[in-house]
Amino acid sequence: MKVVRTPNELRETLQSLRLDTTVGMVPTMGNLHEGHLALVRRARADCDAVVATIFVNPLQFGATEDLDSYPRSFEADCKVLDSLEVEILFSPTPETMYPHGQTEQTKTIVPKLGSSLCGERRTGHFDGVTTVVAKLFNLVQPDKAYFGEKDWQQLTIIRKMAADLNFQIEAIGVPTVRAEDNLALSSRNQYLSEEQRQLAPQLYQELCSVREAVRSGNTDYSYQEERAMHALRALGFRPDYVAIRDADSLNPPKANSNNRRVFGAAHLGQARLIDNIPIDLA
Ligand code: PAJ
Repeated sequence: MKVVRTPNELRETLQSLRLDTTVGMVPTMGNLHEGHLALVRRARADCDAVVATIFVNPLQFGATEDLDSYPRSFEADCKVLDSLEVEILFSPTPETMYPHGQTEQTKTIVPKLGSSLCGERRTGHFDGVTTVVAKLFNLVQPDKAYFGEKDWQQLTIIRKMAADLNFQIEAIGVPTVRAEDNLALSSRNQYLSEEQRQLAPQLYQELCSVREAVRSGNTDYSYQEERAMHALRALGFRPDYVAIRDADSLNPPKANSNNRRVFGAAHLGQARLIDNIPIDLA
């Protein structure tokens, strides 16, 4: 009998007992676009077996948000996942995931990271995300799970949850896939009118100009954030925030932080767009 004292040693011991197969999981809400497919391709390249999930998770939508109108395209999604040689698609119903309803569901909450930036505007949103992802982690038990950097805060929160709850799952970040004009791909881009779609890449452009200012030595971050918000308002966006943050803690960066990102969220028509980019100091 082997006596094991640490979580790491337990994982290694169990792994050596398991079949030598790595399982990759790609959780989505469906309506798949090239951003989602980049995650699937990465999982396919890294792992022996790929499990994709499609579940429009009611727990992460606010009462006034777009749960009912969220775009769904199950047949087309199945086709594309099949063509990418995904082994298993798990697409449960809300009744299966929350048999006792949403209010009685046990929640998984990441306290601090989940309450800033998007969490501040979308109360309870990340609690819904971490609760469903924890359930999916337990159901699928993958070795690796793939998430987009477009939702950097989500990725950071899921990594924290996985570490805090000793999930033996590596959460892997995949770079943001963009349209030719640099708009980050998103299912919610469909809510934009043709005119708004032309305007939408300006969110990315404003994040780039904040990055340029920081790179060229400007240290007045509040001014840069305000300036970008002002520019977005002038273009017709309704910005929630533009924020320079430490990429790991999501706090305002300390002077010695060498891992910063600039985050932005703004409403445009019916759509709420989010984006973020690294500020790699030259
Ligand atoms: P959804 O918005 O469908 O996104 C599924 C995954 O695709 C997320 O990890 C997201 O970051 C990634 N993704 C979306 N657009 C991307 C893009 N342009 N480039 C790269 N990756 C992109 O995020 C969710 O669903 C849900 O919150 C979920 C994690 C599935 C939990 O319900």
